[in-house]
Amino acid sequence: MTGGPEHWDRVFGARQEADLTWFEAEPEVSLRLVTAHAGPGEPVLDVGGGVSRLVDALLARGYRDLSVLDISAAALAATRDRLGNLARDVRWIEADVTRWRPHRAWALWHDRAVFHFLTERSARAAYLAAMADALRPEGHAIVATFAEDGPESCSGLPVARWSPEALADEVAALVPGGFETVGAERHEHVTPKGNVQRFQVSVFRRAGPGATPHSSTVASSRERS
Ligand SMILES: C[S@@+](CC[C@H](N)C(=O)[O-])C[C@H]1O[C@@H](n2cnc3c(N)ncnc32)[C@H](O)[C@@H]1O
Repeated sequence: MTGGPEHWDRVFGARQEADLTWFEAEPEVSLRLVTAHAGPGEPVLDVGGGVSRLVDALLARGYRDLSVLDISAAALAATRDRLGNLARDVRWIEADVTRWRPHRAWALWHDRAVFHFLTERSARAAYLAAMADALRPEGHAIVATFAEDGPESCSGLPVARWSPEALADEVAALVPGGFETVGAERHEHVTPKGNVQRFQVSVFRRAGPGATPHSSTVASSRERS
């Protein structure tokens, strides 16, 4: 369980952006990996984007088919407000990723610090089914989680920590034949208070045409563009 919308709305309502432990003024690792695997003309989806500045950085680099999905309406509203007129160029999807059915295909799925909240396997299966459905063949998924020596909780919620190997095994087990691993790296995030949080960042490629079929959980989402 990742905490419901009320939990996350409360978090974003109570704290300024720079007070969030996961705040990054410059999302350097995400930006480097996103731009390496999708060009400005390609559709990019930031899952659990929250109030991340990744969308600002991608807009500034000419990306024009951007979507931000989050369970928290408050987070999406704050990001839209920050962007002002530029927000019109982004699709905003208010949804629980574990209950969301994608309505189109993206070239790139980016998740920083969402998957690790999925402590139940059924939720991870639903998330990965959505990830498989949302990506076009040979599209890329970037999944950044707390590493095996990272924090044990975040935002008052327990997390599941991952090594790149364990994460790749989980993806292979839950979406057989659906993804291949492109690479992984470690990252040390320094929180605004100066604490170090160890992350792993894995990149997966969706299988080409003819991949194993699968199904995802059907549920509702509200979208704005
Ligand atoms: C730790 S924050 C990371 C935010 C952002 N990715 C960043 O790096 O700044 C986790 C984010 O995931 C969102 N979230 C949590 N559970 C979710 C779910 N089941 N579906 C969609 N978003 C979720 C939260 O609202 C929050 O914005």
